Amino acid sequence: MNRFVARAVLIGGRRCNWYLSAPSPAAEAAAVVVRPFDDTAEHCWASIGGAQWRRAMSSAAERTSAVAEKDRKETAVAEMEKEKAESGVLVSSYWGISRPKITREDGTEWPWNCFMPWETYRADLSIDLGKHHVPKTFLDKVAFRTVKILRIPTDIFFRRRYGCRAMMLETVAAVPGMVGGMLLHLRSLRKFEHSGGWIKALLEEAENERMHLMTMVELVKPKWYERILVLTVQGVFFNAFFALYLLSPKLAHRVVGYLEEEAIHSYTEYLKDIDSGKIENVPAPAIAIDYWRLPKDSTLKDVITVIRADEAHHRDVNHFASDIHYQGKDLKEAPAPVGYH
Ligand SMILES: [Fe+2]
Ligand SMILES: [Fe+2]
Repeated sequence: MNRFVARAVLIGGRRCNWYLSAPSPAAEAAAVVVRPFDDTAEHCWASIGGAQWRRAMSSAAERTSAVAEKDRKETAVAEMEKEKAESGVLVSSYWGISRPKITREDGTEWPWNCFMPWETYRADLSIDLGKHHVPKTFLDKVAFRTVKILRIPTDIFFRRRYGCRAMMLETVAAVPGMVGGMLLHLRSLRKFEHSGGWIKALLEEAENERMHLMTMVELVKPKWYERILVLTVQGVFFNAFFALYLLSPKLAHRVVGYLEEEAIHSYTEYLKDIDSGKIENVPAPAIAIDYWRLPKDSTLKDVITVIRADEAHHRDVNHFASDIHYQGKDLKEAPAPVGYH
């Protein structure tokens, strides 16, 4: 039946051929790709009755020609599919989901799917890196001590291997924002109330931390045992932080604030090793140049400098969030640091 329809339509018209002369999976997919919402489909089906008559009247030469044409198109479609698969470009789907062509300011094609040009920014390097929240209350001291204790095993394990250390710690750093954002999201649903922008602010922090990780993995490739360590640490840390945020968001944010202070310290040490030549100042990964809108000739030092500035912003956001809770208020009562980098 398919062959009959295919031939009838091949003779009936070229446009219909994209829909109906596609017995192979590749060609069927291509029919969807090329004309996903073709308004000639109805016309094609309507023409089948006429095509039956034409089929009866067609000569052997016409049939041979149609089959040859079909083969040619199948080959062309298969080649197109192969090209797309090799280039890594996903085909458009029947569901209409496709990415428009996006270019950089200089006209070159935007290569990233994980973030778009309008999500990039220039890091605010003027931020005060030395700010510190002096622990005064019992909970502050608990948070401060907890972070200091957590630092001991990381110092022992990584020593001055700051590339490795940063990559591993970023796998943890991206968790609190996601947990906090998720819990505020659920609270907003339960209570039928706005979050005042804090869901977005915390999820932005999580995404920003994840981009730090995506940058670091371009510089340091995790070994198998490091991947296992990440799995274990994530399993423990996610659940611990989830429970902590449920019990005491002010303590949870304070802990993150101190973790960020430690991150600033670690990245400062990283920069010292780059300056002293212990760590080679390699060219910046392409993803970092686009994400932080860095000059094309940027280096690792530039990347670490902007990441450190991000950490300083996270420090401020989390200490601020904790302070809001200390004042007995909900986060939504204070301005959310959306887009705060
Ligand atoms: Fe980070
Ligand atoms: Fe951070």
